[in-house]
Amino acid sequence: MDVFEAIYNRHSQGKVKPGRLPRELIEKLLEAAVQAPNHYKVRPWRFVVLTGEGRDKLGEVMAASQQDRYPDLPPEAFDKARATPLRAPVLIAVGVDKPSESKVLEIENVCAAAAACENLLLAAYAMGLGAKWRTGEWARDAKVKEFLDFEADQHIIAFLYIGYPEFISEPPPRPSFEDRTVWIE
Ligand SMILES: Cc1cc2nc3c(=O)[nH]c(=O)nc-3n(C[C@H](O)[C@H](O)[C@H](O)COP(=O)(O)O)c2cc1C
Repeated sequence: MDVFEAIYNRHSQGKVKPGRLPRELIEKLLEAAVQAPNHYKVRPWRFVVLTGEGRDKLGEVMAASQQDRYPDLPPEAFDKARATPLRAPVLIAVGVDKPSESKVLEIENVCAAAAACENLLLAAYAMGLGAKWRTGEWARDAKVKEFLDFEADQHIIAFLYIGYPEFISEPPPRPSFEDRTVWIE
């Protein structure tokens, strides 16, 4: 697929089929992700790929975290949190390394990891997959970070939900660049 076709037509696809994806296919997505630019070649992205029961384990962590915060609610109140990672057969959590030397800036590491996420989404689209980038409260949840082996002050910038689309949808119209651009000539 032409790169412009992928960029213009990629769009979030939240509803995907539950069928498992072959590991080689997931690896192809990750390989696309790590082609992203990154300053000082620090490769600041960290991927945690959750499939199958790995997603159930994360769901249990989410439910337990919510229960800690709302201990008086009945157990079924936490079912929604428990089911969160089951929205797609593949869930990739993307964390960002903290700078290990002074010349490396955290903001630049975040930028590089975000570029990796977009690469992955474009590759997924080109491969006929549906995907959605989410964060929400779980990206900042201490128990979730611990489970995923991220440090408490490390950023999780994405939960990428991926699967084959349940239906074919059209990209939404997107505003032009014009009102966000000035030219200095
Ligand atoms: C850093 C980041 C976090 C996001 N988090 C969420 C989220 O938690 N929930 C959500 O519905 N959309 C979230 N989005 C937006 C969607 O992924 C999506 O890009 C947006 O709805 C626009 O739709 P499109 O991807 O079809 O252009 C996030 C996007 C980014 C870049």
